[in-house]
Amino acid sequence: MNGSSFPIGRREFIVAGLAVASLPAGRALAQASSLSSIKIATIGAGREGGALGTLYARLGHQVMFSSRHPDDLKNLVAAAGPTARAGTVADAVAFGDVIFLVVPYTAVEQIGRDFGAALAQKPLILDVSNPIARRDGQAIVDRVAGEGGPGLVTAKLLKGARTVRAFNAIGSGSLEPLAHRAGEKLGIPIAGDDPKAIDLASRLIREAGFEPVLIGGLAKGKYLVPGTPLAGQHTPAELRQIAATLN
Ligand SMILES: NC(=O)c1ccc[n+]([C@@H]2O[C@H](COP(=O)([O-])OP(=O)(O)OC[C@H]3O[C@@H](n4cnc5c(N)ncnc54)[C@H](OP(=O)(O)O)[C@@H]3O)[C@@H](O)[C@H]2O)c1
Repeated sequence: MNGSSFPIGRREFIVAGLAVASLPAGRALAQASSLSSIKIATIGAGREGGALGTLYARLGHQVMFSSRHPDDLKNLVAAAGPTARAGTVADAVAFGDVIFLVVPYTAVEQIGRDFGAALAQKPLILDVSNPIARRDGQAIVDRVAGEGGPGLVTAKLLKGARTVRAFNAIGSGSLEPLAHRAGEKLGIPIAGDDPKAIDLASRLIREAGFEPVLIGGLAKGKYLVPGTPLAGQHTPAELRQIAATLN
């Protein structure tokens, strides 16, 4: 959904010590000497945001967890280890090279309103958030479905952001045990429109010990929610087979 020549923000220039002020965001990150030098911020640090951030903190990333109540995140930070910290959402948006959006779907609109301009400067917003009737209300679920599903709606609410949907239907408690599992890797279905954001998301997902499977553009994000055939635990080959049956 974004042009590949979107200018990079100042923070991205210094990823991995790169002095690449004229490079677009994706290219600078592609040249980062080490993937783990990418700073990750989570907006939302509950079950899923906490588990995902912990996974990446333990891989050596600098991780900032954020929520509206960062003082409540002390135990999470302590458990995630020395590369983790907590902050406000504004702190996290300023800190993260990459942002994981892991909030109840009803919060996405407000986050877009308050932080959309800054989020649009990031090379990747990993959109883990789902509209769920029992939590968000059936009206939100229906509205999002009527507007083409959460892939397209998040992109509309975070105007200009390079969003990729991922990790939407894998439970927080399964992330750590399934990362780098023995045998064939677990497939993680992803959907996005921006090739560089997709590439970066794919590298981060592989780093965590999963295999990303691109299902399609953000319009296919409607299938990246709990309760669809892609949800649950599948091998990459199974995900490709299932995806081939989806319109
Ligand atoms: N749980 C899972 O296994 C799982 C799996 C896949 C995807 N997901 C998706 O991930 C999202 C989060 O689910 P969860 O289970 O982690 O929920 P959760 O445990 O209730 O955590 C939600 C987090 O979002 C924060 N938050 C809420 N409103 C916010 C706002 N306006 N600005 C900033 N932060 C806000 C909350 O903190 P404060 O209230 O302190 O701000 C909390 O840290 C949902 O969309 C869910 O569908 C969950």
